[in-house]
Amino acid sequence: MTTNDSSIKFAYWVPNVSGGLVISKIEQRTSWDIGYNKRLAQIAEASGFDYALSQIRFTAGYGAEYQHESVSFSHALLEATTKLKVIAAILPGPWHPAVVAKQIATINHLTEGRVAVNIVSGWFRGEFAAIGEPWLDHDERYRRSEEFIRVLRGIWTEDNFNFRGDFYRFTNYSLKPKPIDPQPEIFQGGSSRAARDMASRVSDWYFTNGNSVEGIKAQVDDIRAKAKANGHSVKIGVNAFAIARDTEAEAQAVLKDIIDQANPEAVHAFAHEVANAGKASPEREGNWAKSTFEDLVQYNDGFKTNLIGTPQQIAERIVALKDVGVDLVLLGFLHFQEEVAYFGKHVIPLVRELEAKAEAKAGVRVQAAE
Ligand SMILES: Cc1cc2nc3c(=O)[nH]c(=O)nc-3n(C[C@H](O)[C@H](O)[C@H](O)COP(=O)(O)O)c2cc1C
Repeated sequence: MTTNDSSIKFAYWVPNVSGGLVISKIEQRTSWDIGYNKRLAQIAEASGFDYALSQIRFTAGYGAEYQHESVSFSHALLEATTKLKVIAAILPGPWHPAVVAKQIATINHLTEGRVAVNIVSGWFRGEFAAIGEPWLDHDERYRRSEEFIRVLRGIWTEDNFNFRGDFYRFTNYSLKPKPIDPQPEIFQGGSSRAARDMASRVSDWYFTNGNSVEGIKAQVDDIRAKAKANGHSVKIGVNAFAIARDTEAEAQAVLKDIIDQANPEAVHAFAHEVANAGKASPEREGNWAKSTFEDLVQYNDGFKTNLIGTPQQIAERIVALKDVGVDLVLLGFLHFQEEVAYFGKHVIPLVRELEAKAEAKAGVRVQAAE
């Protein structure tokens, strides 16, 4: 299987919180414990996955009753693997950027530069109340996240770093040691206007919820146009809940079972909480602004991306996402270990074949034009 820089990348959600990736009573052969997760990380890197994304949650929401902390858990997964990059989720507010810069610089040294961060901005007011953390308005949360990202980069790359922001201040600060190259990549989660504008200015990667190809294209075009005007370049990652089965009927039956067995109280409670996210932003867009009950059963709208069907159907849909500018697909599964292995064996090779064919065709076109 050949890959190159333009090959689409694959990431999976680390199940470091209990309850799996769907708010449903359906059986999920997935565990949040460290033994299961180390094995999963090893299966993922052997199956062609590039990244693993951990989650940060301080209290239960939609059922995720137990939650392992993201930075320490990510480090454990990096120690159990040799190639996989692990993205630690960070929530400004509870974390101060000086602490994160130092923690991640050390993990970068311990793991040959394989650690990255996902700066999330908070959607769960009850969680902030539970830990006594002030709850800022939607766009203020993003203003803080943007300062957080600027500060992280500054500390990681400059000596005598100075910063005078509304949220953070640094005076002649020199972090030693700084991260070795490659510098830790900075991802962000969120898709409201404020989230997209932040991506177009400072983030290396923009992560968004599941959506149709047209919905994703609109976001990609919007962000890339703004990033270009800012002289910045940003890569795009899209969430999807994958159900790959030998036949389309089997895959659709699994989706139906997940939704039929949804936990309605937990889904409604989640719908109530996420109203504090993009719906509370001035333009009322954002991650869950248009989600239906069925969409929310996968808590990042992962069904909407429609990677549900046979390996061939899924591979073609992934290439369609790539064609509108997507660089990475972030995947959730019902039974993680088994399905990551199946996906690596049956779907990723088809994607690589389709990519190679498209490149060969483009090469022929370039030659013909010469
Ligand atoms: C791929 C992805 C991963 C996320 N991971 C977390 C997380 O681990 N913890 C968290 O509190 N929020 C997480 N978020 C939520 C975002 O940071 C943000 O609060 C949410 O998307 C609402 O943003 P918006 O309404 O401004 O679009 C994630 C979002 C995405 C798209």
